[in-house]
Amino acid sequence: MEVTLECRPGNVALVRIDRPEARNALNGAIRERLAEIFAEIAADDSVRCAVLAGTDKVFAAGADIKAMAEAEPIDMMNRPGDRAWKVLKEFPKPLIAAVNGYALGGGCELAMHADIIVAGEGARFGQPEIKVGIIPGAGGTQRLVRAVGKFKAMKILLTGDFVSARDAEAMGLVSEVVPDGEVLDRALALAGQIAALPPIAARTIKELVLQGGDLSLDSALLLERNAFRLMFGTADQKEGMRAFLEKRPPAFSGR
Ligand code: CAA
Repeated sequence: MEVTLECRPGNVALVRIDRPEARNALNGAIRERLAEIFAEIAADDSVRCAVLAGTDKVFAAGADIKAMAEAEPIDMMNRPGDRAWKVLKEFPKPLIAAVNGYALGGGCELAMHADIIVAGEGARFGQPEIKVGIIPGAGGTQRLVRAVGKFKAMKILLTGDFVSARDAEAMGLVSEVVPDGEVLDRALALAGQIAALPPIAARTIKELVLQGGDLSLDSALLLERNAFRLMFGTADQKEGMRAFLEKRPPAFSGR
């Protein structure tokens, strides 16, 4: 199985891509399986946070060049697995990418679907599509510029050059850099930390950050204010605040 789903303790799901012979290139079968898995864990109340990882050598080297080298536009329109991008974009729970090795092209775009990116010191990010005569097709020209700004994004997109984990962190593409051997553990620890917090608040924060970025500041602030008020209808708000006042740890129910 080239994509696996593992339910970890503490309401965390671990999704791994494992196709090392092709550097985890995202062929149709992998994209289709990612779509199935993320739809499944989106609907599973026992999952509160997910980690997406490749192997300890590569996150993903992009779309499968062998599978599309002779393709025509209509083939690209009909190719299997493209719904994965929509499922990932709409995944409502916090998602952490654990990046070891290359995250290139569609692999970099895949990482950018996450809410937090933990990278190993040896990780390399890039959008090298221009070197094979195409452009990014899963958000690279849009999410990258929103993450790092126009001038860093343009350089990455127009040259196809790779960026080190440290440089990616400095420009805002990576949340945290850790030694290569600690990436997955760190991502799982962060996921466990987030999964122990109230899931309705976590989902609402994600929704507001992602949706708010496309709105005017006034509209986004209004959305936030109304969502903030709605939190007072949750059991976890009562529990969180009472526990604070009673000087005891909270027991969040997820309601
Ligand atoms: N698609 C298909 N096969 C790939 C691949 C890809 N994206 N990346 C690597 N492979 C295959 C190679 O063809 C090779 O296969 P064979 O053994 O059959 O020859 C195998 O994986 C090992 O690759 P390398 O020998 O090149 O391994 P390396 O460790 O020396 O280099 C690498 C690794 C830097 C990732 C290099 O393989 C590379 O540059 N890959 C292509 C990266 C790329 O251009 N990605 C963008 C793809 S387009 C895209 O993603 C569109 C989009 O936005 C959705």
